[in-house]
Amino acid sequence: MLLRSVLFLFTCYVSLVSGADWCYYSQVQCNHTCTAPVLWGLVSQTCNGRSQSPVNIVTSKVLPDERLTPFHFTGYKETFYGSLINTGHSVQLNLPSSIQIKGGNLDDEYKAIQFHLHWGKDGGRGSEHTIDGEKFPMEMHIVHIKEGYDSLAEASKDSTGVAVLGFFFQESESANEKYDHLISALKYISQPKTNVTLLGVSLDMFIPSEINRTKYFRYNGSLTTPDCAEAVVWTLFESTIPLSRNQLAAFNQLRFYDGQKMVNNYRPVQPLNGRQVYYSSGQLALVSSV
Ligand SMILES: *[C@@H]1O[C@H](CO)[C@@H](O)[C@H](O)[C@H]1NC(C)=O
Ligand SMILES: *[C@@H]1O[C@H](CO)[C@@H](O)[C@H](O)[C@H]1NC(C)=O
Ligand SMILES: *[C@@H]1O[C@H](CO)[C@@H](O)[C@H](O)[C@H]1NC(C)=O
Ligand SMILES: *[C@@H]1O[C@H](CO)[C@@H](O)[C@H](O)[C@H]1NC(C)=O
Ligand SMILES: [Zn+2]
Repeated sequence: MLLRSVLFLFTCYVSLVSGADWCYYSQVQCNHTCTAPVLWGLVSQTCNGRSQSPVNIVTSKVLPDERLTPFHFTGYKETFYGSLINTGHSVQLNLPSSIQIKGGNLDDEYKAIQFHLHWGKDGGRGSEHTIDGEKFPMEMHIVHIKEGYDSLAEASKDSTGVAVLGFFFQESESANEKYDHLISALKYISQPKTNVTLLGVSLDMFIPSEINRTKYFRYNGSLTTPDCAEAVVWTLFESTIPLSRNQLAAFNQLRFYDGQKMVNNYRPVQPLNGRQVYYSSGQLALVSSV
């Protein structure tokens, strides 16, 4: 019995290391080889770096920073059409570069390239960042690169080349109609490497209203997928996006690149290694008064 367990573990261990492509833990099975998060360092050494993302934010340890003023959002209200893509690891909406942000103590203007999502299983917890250990059902990453760069690869070579705006989702009783269009399009891209065009969408419709985008956390980190480049100025907003349980669960109809159900596509939290997390001035509403 013991020998069998050892052999079983050994087989699973081999399947963890010998994979050709990187994967999330939810994809690892004893009969399926892929490179799980703990071994992403084999795919790219940077994944073993000391400023990795995501992280757990301990609200009692964040420092208020008056320089973290509200952002200037350009083009967030404009309607556009964009490709919604099943990347094999997530779902991504490509964004026009006329969408830009500045302010918020960013040292430059940044242009949007895409947003994508990380989620759980059947509407359960699946965010990448956590707050005081709490995981949210889903997390959106709006990826921006410094104005002067042409690609994420180019921006990744600059320690502040990428600015990601992160939003947490929260389960709501009623459906969020603003997401109907995106969610009903998922059925056309259940297979990896497929895409569909979304017409008449704006970034504003997917995120909290502008007055609710003034409270946020800030730290320096990395991309949360290989090559894990340590080039990201992270902004995580306190205000959440509501979606019903059914809407959250709808993302499970997508398939990973290996054909399995796309669930729990998040990287586990990484050590802070002495990094400080800052908070925009104002009241920290998430923590109850102490
Ligand atoms: C692994 O085995 C399980 C259970 O036997 C099966 O359901 C699954 O499809 C297999 N996965 C792969 C990738 O072959
Ligand atoms: C969308 O899919 C089509 C057909 O496979 C492909 O030609 C096109 O390059 C894809 N577009 C994007 C943005 O991935
Ligand atoms: C901002 O967020 C608060 C708390 O989540 C909410 O009650 C309020 O309605 C929001 N305001 C707007 C304008 O969306
Ligand atoms: C992030 O790194 C930059 C460049 O090293 C530094 O100027 C900035 O203060 C850091 N920001 C935070 C939030 O630690
Ligand atoms: Zn992400």
